[in-house]
Amino acid sequence: MNNNNENKITSSNEKKEDRSFDISLRPKKLSEYIGQKKVKNNLKIFMQAAQKRKEPLEHVLLYGPPGLGKTTLAHIIANEMNVNIKVTSGPAIEKSGDLAAILTNLQEGDVLFIDEIHRLNKVIEEVLYPAMEDYTLDIIIGKGPSARTLRLELPKFTIIGATTKIGLLSHPFRDRFGNIYHLNFYDLEDIEKIILRNSKILKINIKNEAITEIAQRSRKTPRIANRLLKRVRDFAEVKSNGIITKKISKDSLRELEIDELGLDEVDIKILKVIIEKFKGGPIGIKTLAATTFEEIDTIEEIYEPFLMQLGFLQRTPRGRIVTKEAYKHLSLKSSDSLL
Ligand SMILES: Nc1ncnc2c1ncn2[C@@H]1O[C@H](COP(=O)(O)OP(=O)(O)OP(=O)(O)O)[C@@H](O)[C@H]1O
Ligand SMILES: [Mg+2]
Repeated sequence: MNNNNENKITSSNEKKEDRSFDISLRPKKLSEYIGQKKVKNNLKIFMQAAQKRKEPLEHVLLYGPPGLGKTTLAHIIANEMNVNIKVTSGPAIEKSGDLAAILTNLQEGDVLFIDEIHRLNKVIEEVLYPAMEDYTLDIIIGKGPSARTLRLELPKFTIIGATTKIGLLSHPFRDRFGNIYHLNFYDLEDIEKIILRNSKILKINIKNEAITEIAQRSRKTPRIANRLLKRVRDFAEVKSNGIITKKISKDSLRELEIDELGLDEVDIKILKVIIEKFKGGPIGIKTLAATTFEEIDTIEEIYEPFLMQLGFLQRTPRGRIVTKEAYKHLSLKSSDSLL
């Protein structure tokens, strides 16, 4: 991923500066987790049923774009189930020995959170199958003709996997998760609630109109809402008396070069390249990446989901197409648009 994007305020990827801030703002209980009603309701039922049966929760898979609350939700689940959570990630588990060490150290009911689970290597994935199904682990001891398999019994545990790219998970792997939840972009109202809640925690004096102003530019993403709130707070402290008014939020967001829908220069560049160089599309992802000088992954994971959510871009079998709404937003004539 290119560094330039990593540092952008509108990047939904986690940045270093988010971490300490995030910890104080991260909801600990399901009742504090704003929005995602369907997911919460389903989860509540699954958790209550498991608790009634005194069984560990079935394995959970959380997927959706960055910054929407997958990691937060995984911690909340462990907290609500009153169990420990061990955190690892797909690329961190390199050998089956690593996996064996992690699994044999779990206690009954514990949650193993595997972030970026789509990056788990295939060999590990297959070792994980019997562990997920029967709580057993087959490890091979020795090499060559004297090698033998040892079967270990594991405590009953729950895997919570998180991914921004569910399409990269194999079907047999996906099928082993009892609960699969899709986290979606947040409504404006929910983002406003998150900003209000966090302003209270951080003791920030903010006007309602300013909350709306920030929420509208947050790309329907809690992580970005938190980040913008922090920047606007700094701005208010330096340029004014610390109170965040509508004007202060407008001025500071303008300085950050975020438009009123939360689009930044890369979003605009993507749309404009398709419009100006390819008559609105369709255009393939490789060509798009080459002409915008952005990575394919960055476009697919960060920019496209939001542009599609706004209805500005469509993915079709023939390629990406910019819609009339995007032309309108950019004040361009849409005579070429297919959509
Ligand atoms: N439903 C929510 N209610 C309140 N705050 C939230 C909610 N979801 C996320 N947040 C806030 O947004 C921040 C980012 O969320 P989180 O780190 O869980 O995202 P993620 O989906 O794991 O992202 P990534 O894909 O980059 O790992 C959290 O630290 C938290 O402060
Ligand atoms: Mg995460």
